[in-house]
Amino acid sequence: MVKVLFVCLGNICRSPMAEGIFNDIILKKKLQKVMKCDSAGTEGYHVGEWPDKRMQQTAYKHQIHLGHTARQIVKEDIAKFDFILAMDKANLADILTLSYPNESAGKIMLIRDFDPVSGDGNVPDPYYGGIDGFEEVYQMLERCNHALINCLIKDSL
Ligand code: 4NP
Repeated sequence: MVKVLFVCLGNICRSPMAEGIFNDIILKKKLQKVMKCDSAGTEGYHVGEWPDKRMQQTAYKHQIHLGHTARQIVKEDIAKFDFILAMDKANLADILTLSYPNESAGKIMLIRDFDPVSGDGNVPDPYYGGIDGFEEVYQMLERCNHALINCLIKDSL
């Protein structure tokens, strides 16, 4: 079983959407027995909350189920998961401070490392913007997740 953890700042916008899209793809591809995922935030501001209403609205539009309530990443997650995928470079730096170099080698990455469309490596934080930013995050995470899952099928199974 390959275990993937998606990480953003608050765990109410980007990483719950990444989790929802990943679950949707693996359900459709019948991969539930070979891979699974979870999500977490580097900060604990929203622990226990459902995803942001605007992200729920975007998920509903694309028939993505968001069943996650926010939690903060803990040190133990680094060992527990095979791949830890940060939404942006600040999240990546924060995750690295939690881990020992030998345990993090090769498993902590940016989700946009898998993006077939080139960019700056970040999934932009939509929290302080309008609804369009949430749709942009969905589109980005949808294509990144397809590429990620294809990669996991090829390399890890
Ligand atoms: P997320 O978005 O990291 O994609 O969940 C944010 C959610 C909340 C805050 C910032 C970003 N906040 O500052 O409360």
